[in-house]
Amino acid sequence: MTPTIDLKNSRIYIGKGLLAQTGAHIATEYPSAKVLVVTDTTVGGLYLDALEADLKANSIIYNSLVLPDGENTKHLKNIGIICEMAAEMNLNRGDVILALGGGVIGDLAGFAAAVFLRGIRFVALPTTLLSQVDSSVGGKTGVNLPQGKNLVGSFYKANSVLIDTDTLKTLSDREFACGMAEVIKYGCIWDAALFEKLEALDSREKIMGEIDSIVTTCCEIKAKVVREDEFDKGLRMILNFGHTIGHAIENTLGYGELTHGEAVAIGMSKMTHSTEAKGMTEKGTAARLDALLKKHGLPTDMAGYDKQRIFDAAMKDKKNIGKALNIIVAKKIGEVDIVPIAPESLEEYL
Ligand SMILES: NC(=O)c1ccc[n+]([C@@H]2O[C@H](COP(=O)([O-])OP(=O)(O)OC[C@H]3O[C@@H](n4cnc5c(N)ncnc54)[C@H](O)[C@@H]3O)[C@@H](O)[C@H]2O)c1
Ligand SMILES: [Zn+2]
Repeated sequence: MTPTIDLKNSRIYIGKGLLAQTGAHIATEYPSAKVLVVTDTTVGGLYLDALEADLKANSIIYNSLVLPDGENTKHLKNIGIICEMAAEMNLNRGDVILALGGGVIGDLAGFAAAVFLRGIRFVALPTTLLSQVDSSVGGKTGVNLPQGKNLVGSFYKANSVLIDTDTLKTLSDREFACGMAEVIKYGCIWDAALFEKLEALDSREKIMGEIDSIVTTCCEIKAKVVREDEFDKGLRMILNFGHTIGHAIENTLGYGELTHGEAVAIGMSKMTHSTEAKGMTEKGTAARLDALLKKHGLPTDMAGYDKQRIFDAAMKDKKNIGKALNIIVAKKIGEVDIVPIAPESLEEYL
């Protein structure tokens, strides 16, 4: 296999049927490595038998850990469980922890790979659209604490990311739309041509017809941004377009009511309507964005949207405390500015 993208020794492969080539890839790239597969119940139920059969066919010694679905799995106790299992298997630094699943499994297994023996090989097989275009690129790994999301983690890039776009076929429409919010985000912040392409594809089926090139474009954009700002000190902020409001919505609703993508969609829409009204955004941009979000099953507003509660939640967000707040403003489709504002004035943008 030839990597589609090479990001500082993290090789990203994108295509159909890659799941069935995983064993051969590991046997070639990491000869005689043992593998600890980490997955969740849903993804495990769909793909683990095939993956295990493929590992077996390539004479790879492996073991699998199936954890419950959902955000609560991103818990420190599971880091302990994975590391103890790795120790039971006598894994050394040349061996592999393999994440089979969405962003939850990727963030969790990646963090375990970063800390077991101070770092062993990590291979990611992202299976949601969100994880294929976002979380599997860029090396952020971690878990949640009761005090907040992603509070413990590290920067640790996967040695290989195998993006099998066929796995998206089993995703629910809602999870697919959730990933589409990030895809649309890339169009807004970087790539007007991608945005126009998405405007012309008005169904999930049509998107799936072009999915390899769409995922590749998104990963290339994220890789470019990450190359310039590996440790999240500047440019990477543009990836947060729609996310200040999105996170505040997630925090006021409690996680679970809306998907991350739905909250970000509302965030991108609200922000762009207000910056357009302030003359910071080309006229007509918000309407185009709203139409595209709706076309792909995403909301632009929600019942009970309450400016004051959203503002309070954004102010409570630990990342926003005590410093100027940077908001990401679409100047037009495909181009954004990072605009520092006094935190109190966020209210004007909600
Ligand atoms: N590390 C990063 O840079 C980064 C970036 C964005 C998000 N994240 C993290 O990613 C997580 C969210 O990821 P997610 O949206 O992939 O959620 P997820 O991993 O919870 O997956 C969503 C649901 O889809 C199911 N699923 C996964 N693949 C499937 C498939 N192919 N077919 C059918 N069902 C499938 C899962 O079992 C789960 O129930 C959050 O914890 C977030 O913090 C990390
Ligand atoms: Zn996001």
